[in-house]
Amino acid sequence: MTAYLPPARFPATRLRRNRATDWQRRLTRETTLSVNDLILAMVVHDGAEPEIPVASMPGSLRYNVARAAEVAAEAQSLGIPMIAVFPNINPALKTADGAEALNPAGLVPAAVAAMKAAAPGIGIMTDVALDPFTDHGHDGLIDDDGMMLNDETIALLCQQAVLEARAGADVVAPSDMTDGRIGLIRAALDEAGFADVSIMSYAAKYASAFYGPYRDAIGSKGALKGDKKTYQMDPANSDEALREVAMDLAEGADMVMVKPGMPYLDIIRRVKDAFGAPTYAFQVSGEYAMMEAAIANGWLDGARVRMEALTCFKRAGADGIITYRALEAARQLGR
Ligand code: PBG
Repeated sequence: MTAYLPPARFPATRLRRNRATDWQRRLTRETTLSVNDLILAMVVHDGAEPEIPVASMPGSLRYNVARAAEVAAEAQSLGIPMIAVFPNINPALKTADGAEALNPAGLVPAAVAAMKAAAPGIGIMTDVALDPFTDHGHDGLIDDDGMMLNDETIALLCQQAVLEARAGADVVAPSDMTDGRIGLIRAALDEAGFADVSIMSYAAKYASAFYGPYRDAIGSKGALKGDKKTYQMDPANSDEALREVAMDLAEGADMVMVKPGMPYLDIIRRVKDAFGAPTYAFQVSGEYAMMEAAIANGWLDGARVRMEALTCFKRAGADGIITYRALEAARQLGR
């Protein structure tokens, strides 16, 4: 006679039960991506051609001012909350001191004004940095050894930020990584009557090779002398990112950014956990190029891989993602 044994409860917990059907998966989903999470990264140029393809960013276009305004209206109707504008400056206008950045009749003020007029209900964000305007491709003034001058650069960035606010920018985004710029830009904006203009700081910005195609997009490819390692962060560092973010928040940043995106999800998580501040990821040009080149070759499923990448930013703790694919993602997501 054998003793009765209850059937082995192997395993009592079956996590697959919650994955069995579409409704169960939807019911147990932890992260939801929506159109509200998207910031459209857009490159503008001052020419007559409405759209110019960017070779190293397959499927991505540079717009002239008129077309940029139309695209802004389209982005607004898709429900995208904000557009980040980046200028491709005519090489003839580039100088060592990036003076064109302070031209009130320049490309950025023109684009911002046209976009605001065409789409008053969408936020417009502009970069605060000199690299699209300098002939050496650095984000600020440099000395004879190519070292970026911190305090002298900030004096110009303050003027640039005020000029952008005057043109209608809702958010200014210092992307230069000088020390102390957030506090001084905040003070300059307040003094000029723009206390309501927000600052999204490129707080944890790394000296990354993933920005390569962006140089192509804004026309500084090959122009950059040296690299940006004396001001942007070492990709090997993580504690330092928290110190950068702490500084920028203490100086008055309203939102902080981690850049690049996908290889830096651990940084997003640490920043979000440590500060609980509005935190954004920049899915940069190199990430775009890698994915879109593979999609174009039929090696990746575009519709799926784009959504997966964006969802993973949110899962990591990002409140939103700056992406060159915001229009496509918004169409796919619906409102
Ligand atoms: C410049 C700036 C860069 C990007 C946004 N603003 C490049 C850099 O710092 O060299 C990168 C954007 C991208 O790669 O998509 N201050």
